[in-house]
Amino acid sequence: MPFPVDRPRRLRDNPVLRELVRETSLGASDLIYPIFVVPGHRVRRPIPALPGQFHLSPDEAGVLALEFSRAGGRALMLFGLPDSKDETGSPGADPKGPVPTAVRAIKDLVPDLAVITDVCLCEYTSHGHCGLVDGQRVLNDASLPHLAAQALCHARAGADMVAPSDMMDGRVQAIRRLLDDEGLASVPVMAYSAKYASAFYGPFRQAADSTPAFGDRRGYQMDPANRREALLEVDLDLAEGADVVMVKPAGPYLDVIREVRLHTGRPLAAYQVSGEFAMLKHAAAAGALDFRRAAWESLVGIKRAGADLILTYLAPEVLPWL
Ligand code: PBG
Repeated sequence: MPFPVDRPRRLRDNPVLRELVRETSLGASDLIYPIFVVPGHRVRRPIPALPGQFHLSPDEAGVLALEFSRAGGRALMLFGLPDSKDETGSPGADPKGPVPTAVRAIKDLVPDLAVITDVCLCEYTSHGHCGLVDGQRVLNDASLPHLAAQALCHARAGADMVAPSDMMDGRVQAIRRLLDDEGLASVPVMAYSAKYASAFYGPFRQAADSTPAFGDRRGYQMDPANRREALLEVDLDLAEGADVVMVKPAGPYLDVIREVRLHTGRPLAAYQVSGEFAMLKHAAAAGALDFRRAAWESLVGIKRAGADLILTYLAPEVLPWL
């Protein structure tokens, strides 16, 4: 019934009514906090590109995990910066590397916090690509055993879930098979399924020291202009055994999140990436917006689009507001 009978403003009139009819909620168990771990002891070094984020040694990652958990946090995603790099990214599968060491430290201190590990070669290869290279080409099939070995190393250290972000074809299958063969059939895979070749990864590449030495990632990450292709990637990853699928970045790809949400009933994650975080921080620092309201709005928008889980550097800041 049109005006004057229908007046949508009636339900906006006071805070409790607004709360009663709010369609989307944001809770602590929706958030996954990505952190960067480095070798050593007692290291807690600010990352200039990501205000408020740190490079943490495994012991310090444990301390942070405990604080995060006490504040209500439920899950971390770990990225590693190794001591040394090589052509095949083999330091990524070293059980003494920063990620497996941090997984053990965190699980010892806070067993009920979910520890998810990012699986990729770019932090561990001398050339900074997410797979093995032959000249200027990034090889697909030859990269798969190396990714699977890294996932196995993380799972053996006690990771609750492994998350391949490399975008090689067939990597979910390679990881699933190796985990199953090694008696780790119960460790789930969260696939970065629709991962776009995005300019919004800028601050992360400084934080993770993973900028490619030549070329770019457009030969393996998705073209930002494509939406239908995201559904293909999701279907393939699910067929290969992915337990959770992901869209990344999140904010500029809300339509893709929505589309994937309508396409599958499987759990869907979205990654609010480093550039999205940095934009909010810098805009707030310049006085252009209210940080708290803008942060909440950016996350609720991602949930409203259809994500079940959000990877976000905002996690510890927003927890107390939820
Ligand atoms: C590496 C990886 C990247 C991110 C997550 N895993 C960077 C890239 O693909 O270049 C980006 C995360 C962020 O920007 O916050 N495979």
